[in-house]
Amino acid sequence: MLELAESGRDIRRVERYAIARLPKDALTDGSVAKPEVVEAAMREAWKAMQTKTREVALALPAAAVITKKILLPQGASELDIETQVMAEANQMAPFPLDEVSLDWQILGPAPRSPEENEALVVVSRRERLEERVALAEAVGLKAVIVDVDSFATLNAFEQLAYQLPDNGRNQTVAIIDIGANATHVSVVHDNQLVYQREHALGGYVLTQEIARRYDLPIDEAEEAKRKALLPDSYESEVLQPFLDAIALEIGRALQLFFGATAYHSVDHILLAGGCAAIPGLDDIVHSRLQTSTLIANPFAKMAVSSQVKARQLAADAPALFVACGLALRRFDPT
Ligand SMILES: Nc1ncnc2c1ncn2[C@@H]1O[C@H](COP(=O)(O)OP(=O)(O)OP(=O)(O)O)[C@@H](O)[C@H]1O
Ligand SMILES: [Mg+2]
Repeated sequence: MLELAESGRDIRRVERYAIARLPKDALTDGSVAKPEVVEAAMREAWKAMQTKTREVALALPAAAVITKKILLPQGASELDIETQVMAEANQMAPFPLDEVSLDWQILGPAPRSPEENEALVVVSRRERLEERVALAEAVGLKAVIVDVDSFATLNAFEQLAYQLPDNGRNQTVAIIDIGANATHVSVVHDNQLVYQREHALGGYVLTQEIARRYDLPIDEAEEAKRKALLPDSYESEVLQPFLDAIALEIGRALQLFFGATAYHSVDHILLAGGCAAIPGLDDIVHSRLQTSTLIANPFAKMAVSSQVKARQLAADAPALFVACGLALRRFDPT
């Protein structure tokens, strides 16, 4: 949970944040398998936040939505747009329209036919959306925005595009968000999302290996991993093979991306998610893939409230990547 505030013109300030851990089986494939466990974690984070804010933005996983770009004639009436969007949604959703939650946004003139507007249509099963909104409500929060995590990723990316040559213009950037159970790969070209896919590798594998090797319960293994409090053999015998596996998986992910699209290379790799904090990962990825590699810090040009510990924030920043993209929605022009 992350709260951003306005701090002068176009400057955001990190007000506060809290991270609560979820057991592995609380969310499976993006659906809420154990609502009471997720609710408890949200309550814990909410308490730790100590904020008066109750309005939240939350995200659906990309796997829970279907998106499509459609073309609309310039100057189409509201009614025409609605009719066309509904017809598209009906085609897109593999379930009845009355079970669908649907939204769309006009993106602007279509690159290849400027006499038409491009619009993005997003549908999801209403249930998936409602289960999340209900969780927020159970904790006393109000979901005012429901986004999609891959869009939030793009939004957070915009915060750090300035760190790339020419602000990322004309460049292809692979954002690799390595979480606990999954790695989300999003590729951005010219600051537009061109590809996204989920891979089943995350930091939980490392926690499991630590638990097995050093005969620890899972939660102690997790703690030891984060605090790097492990025997000398850990680095070479456990951590290094894990980092190798990640680098290999990123290489595979990029090959899949090249195979599925007309792209043959990426200019930069951006590491996000909790595992991006593992010391040395960026160097290994850089040397194995021979591609410029950065650790994502979406707060690099933000102010930081005095109640936030700057060093801890720097360490947690990659894990807060999606949360940052979500919190920034508050400042979108409406
Ligand atoms: N300092 C650290 N050192 C090593 N691993 C860390 C560190 N901090 C976090 N992690 C690992 O990062 C993972 C959590 O990352 P993140 O918060 O991005 O996951 P998530 O978004 O909850 O999971 P998923 O995307 O798979 O649903 C965990 O496996 C955790 O152990
Ligand atoms: Mg994640």
